[in-house]
Amino acid sequence: MRMFLALALMFMSTGSFAAEEGDSTRGQRVYNACVACHSLEPNKNMTGPSLADLWDRPAGGLKSFTRYSEALKSSGIIWDNNSLDAWLANPDKFIPDNEMTFRGIPDARARADLLAFMKEATKPGNAKMAQTQGGMGGMMSRAAPNLKKLDPEDQVRKISYCRDTYRVTTADGKTHAYWERNLRFKTDSGDEGPVKGAPAILGAGMMGDRAAVVFSAPEEITQFVVREC
Ligand code: HEC
Repeated sequence: MRMFLALALMFMSTGSFAAEEGDSTRGQRVYNACVACHSLEPNKNMTGPSLADLWDRPAGGLKSFTRYSEALKSSGIIWDNNSLDAWLANPDKFIPDNEMTFRGIPDARARADLLAFMKEATKPGNAKMAQTQGGMGGMMSRAAPNLKKLDPEDQVRKISYCRDTYRVTTADGKTHAYWERNLRFKTDSGDEGPVKGAPAILGAGMMGDRAAVVFSAPEEITQFVVREC
């Protein structure tokens, strides 16, 4: 009887293990839903914290990420297969009042695939490998571009302001006019932000009527924009 029980238990546990095991190749495609906000490179933080070395890390515990919600920091959760599965199924239900604007992945199979991919890709040194294998990113899920390497048409030389209009001159010599409400000013002081004195312009709207200029520091904004009619 005891022997039978042991065998039955063994069978049950291997059986459930096989059902939980995800496919990391499929999981990488699921991960495309995360790349706009999360990097796999250590301490490379974007909208959300870097996911490098995630397993066994306390929720809200990455020192270099400064925008965690109180909800996440005080949750007492340690990231592992189970907690990540519950979090990614429904973030708001698992940790109410968190600030990840992501609805969740209801499909258990897709989550298992995603976790199989993430478990490998979040290991130290594996971020690059995961990226080069990818290629499914496409336009919708592209990570933030590196603004240290700009084409001339994306590099800002001058911004003038007259009445309700900004005129932006780029390094290729062209000047575009924007209604003042359609041009945003942003900063990126990080490794992939623009070089000091060489802000970047990124087309934001589908119609080409809106754009964002990214500076290396906030002080640069007032230095750069000249009133001139
Ligand atoms: C729109 C941006 C956005 C998207 C998309 C997004 N996240 Fe997040 N994520 C965040 C933010 C912001 C936080 C921090 C939330 C907080 O502090 O409440 C976060 C937190 C996390 C955490 C907790 C990390 C820690 O250090 O405690 C994990 C794990 C996570 N996200 C995984 C994912 C995965 C996997 C996906 C894709 C399926 C994803 N996220 C999609 C923005 C996003």
